[in-house]
Amino acid sequence: MECLVWLLMSCTSLLSLSASSSENPTVIIIGAGMSGIMAAKTLSERGINDFLILEASDRIGGRMLHTNFSGYVIEVGANWVEGVGGQQENPIWTLAKKYDLRVSYSDYNNISANTYNEEGELLQLSKTKPHFDLADASFNYSNALSFSLNAYSEEDVSIATAQRLFGVIPTSPLDMAIDYFYYDFEIAEPPRITSLKNVLPNPTFDYYGDSEYFVCDKRGYSYLPEQLAREFLKHDNEKFIDSRLKLQKVVRQIKYSPHGVHISTEDNSTYHASYAILSVSLGVLKSRLITFKPDLPYWKIKTFYQFDMSIYTKIFLKFPYKFWPTGPGTEFFLYADDKRGYYPFWQHLENEYPGANILFVTVTDDEARRIEQQSNKVTKEEIMEILKKLFGEGIPEAEDVLVPRWWKNRFYGGSYTNWPIGVSGADFDRMKVPVGPLYFTGEHTSEKFNGYVHGAYLAGIATAETLLDCINHGKCREVTSDGLPWAHQNNSQADIQANKTCTGVCCKDVQQVRL
Ligand SMILES: Cc1cc2nc3c(=O)[nH]c(=O)nc-3n(C[C@H](O)[C@H](O)[C@H](O)COP(=O)(O)OP(=O)(O)OC[C@H]3O[C@@H](n4cnc5c(N)ncnc54)[C@H](O)[C@@H]3O)c2cc1C
Ligand SMILES: *[C@@H]1O[C@H](CO)[C@@H](O)[C@H](O)[C@H]1NC(C)=O
Ligand SMILES: *[C@@H]1O[C@H](CO)[C@@H](O)[C@H](O)[C@H]1NC(C)=O
Ligand SMILES: *[C@@H]1O[C@H](CO)[C@@H](O)[C@H](O)[C@H]1NC(C)=O
Ligand SMILES: *[C@@H]1O[C@H](CO)[C@@H](O)[C@H](O)[C@H]1NC(C)=O
Ligand SMILES: *[C@@H]1O[C@H](CO)[C@@H](O)[C@H](O)[C@H]1NC(C)=O
Ligand SMILES: *[C@@H]1O[C@H](CO)[C@@H](O)[C@H](O)[C@H]1NC(C)=O
Repeated sequence: MECLVWLLMSCTSLLSLSASSSENPTVIIIGAGMSGIMAAKTLSERGINDFLILEASDRIGGRMLHTNFSGYVIEVGANWVEGVGGQQENPIWTLAKKYDLRVSYSDYNNISANTYNEEGELLQLSKTKPHFDLADASFNYSNALSFSLNAYSEEDVSIATAQRLFGVIPTSPLDMAIDYFYYDFEIAEPPRITSLKNVLPNPTFDYYGDSEYFVCDKRGYSYLPEQLAREFLKHDNEKFIDSRLKLQKVVRQIKYSPHGVHISTEDNSTYHASYAILSVSLGVLKSRLITFKPDLPYWKIKTFYQFDMSIYTKIFLKFPYKFWPTGPGTEFFLYADDKRGYYPFWQHLENEYPGANILFVTVTDDEARRIEQQSNKVTKEEIMEILKKLFGEGIPEAEDVLVPRWWKNRFYGGSYTNWPIGVSGADFDRMKVPVGPLYFTGEHTSEKFNGYVHGAYLAGIATAETLLDCINHGKCREVTSDGLPWAHQNNSQADIQANKTCTGVCCKDVQQVRL
């Protein structure tokens, strides 16, 4: 009996799979990162199985990427489950538990006892503590100011403006390193250009809790999107064998009209569908790797260019033996150079991989851009010079170095987004609002959690639901001629009515669709 049930089930699932790999799918999803996979999974769960996923690389996961670095699996992209232990549970944490992902709690509390000055001396806690306390008070003030600006609908300022209002501007190497740890290490850009109202308090920690867990699993962090994909894509143990997932398909052109989309790839394949969901990063959207015919409207392109794609680079180094402090409360250390952001934040992997003898240092923004453009040899020399200051001339040379280049990689164009000053909530809406049959998803379309894995996860679901509303109920998102969602406009209703643009292909009654 059990056997029969099993047979029936596998038969129906086979049937639905073969029926669904049509050449004219309803939806094409561009990109198989966390958001693209979640968009496809949501469509599939809601009965839309004739979709096609076009992915430029040869794998699922996008910016969740691991590699074997001298025998250890390290994460080149996303590394932490961020926001754990709060009132609500982070959906990525739920998945991490479900799949028994190997993680390590990141305890940053002792960083003030692991801070080195520009001469390479480990500073006494009594020396660093007042500086960390002041940074903390400034951080608290900035959070409170953000609340107040939001509550009274006052104009946005940068985080640096809040710091000046508080009365402390980090200028010494030590204060700059602490400042870097508070802001750049998380958002990958400096306080000077970052929106106070939209970045503080960080909704990730506000909603989901302050804890962070470092993923150190042999299967990699991308095991999560892979498992999610296995729930709806045909696969054998090793790999995906579903014809709806097309790897190494680099989308270069999208022609769109109210009747649907025509997509062509670098290998000159063409695909047609009624709708497309674009999950490519903001870096890709800015880069014009994909050309749109007709051009995307001005308000859409402007929003892409206004928002920031930051660069966050973890440089891994393998040594023959360890020469840095290990044991409780030593995992993270700070180096305070007189140049802000010069190899400031370090982590050893002895908690995660005892005996690995691996260190990594994080750089961001301009420094990351500079380092991406020089040879790994030069980068290694710069790093060795600092390590010698910290731990003595006698330390061994690094045997191996890994420098990720997310910025130069044309399928990413950076690491993740950061909300700069000058971008309003309405501007942000324009980021994700559909243009005709084109729907937008990805980390950068998550208003609360942009820049995070959980942001990509939730955005994928939300975008698919918006599209399902259009397909199933004719409730297609409508925008005015400047891209604002219909509901946001409060001027003369008649005037707006005249300019109303219907963006869904199901809105057949609209005579002239202005895109
Ligand atoms: C170095 C680094 C560290 C990070 N650290 C963390 C962290 O610790 N915690 C955290 O929560 N988040 C972190 N993030 C952010 C997190 O990785 C992303 O927010 C998330 O993975 C983005 O998913 P996505 O689906 O929006 O985009 P992506 O993962 O970029 O997926 C988009 C997909 O589109 C594909 N694509 C691009 N162009 C084309 C094209 N022309 N045609 C077809 N396919 C195309 C890409 O190959 C990619 O697979 C980090 C990111 C980086 C880079
Ligand atoms: C990593 O690569 C090394 C060779 O450099 C190999 O011996 C090892 O088995 C690999 N480890 C994993 C986990 O794939
Ligand atoms: C900042 O706020 C946190 C949380 O409310 C509090 O624990 C901490 O003591 C505050 N720090 C300072 C220096 O006021
Ligand atoms: C795709 O078409 C273009 C223009 O016709 C041609 O130059 C190019 O070589 C083709 N590429 C491939 C991979 O076939
Ligand atoms: C904090 O770090 C210092 C310096 O590495 C170390 O000696 C100390 O044991 C750590 N304290 C805790 C509580 O882990
Ligand atoms: C638009 O006007 C209505 C009623 O006048 C009001 O309730 C709503 O909040 C306004 N919306 C915006 C975005 O201003
Ligand atoms: C509507 O369109 C007309 C003509 O194109 C323009 O003059 C007017 O400003 C538009 N109104 C709104 C609210 O966009």
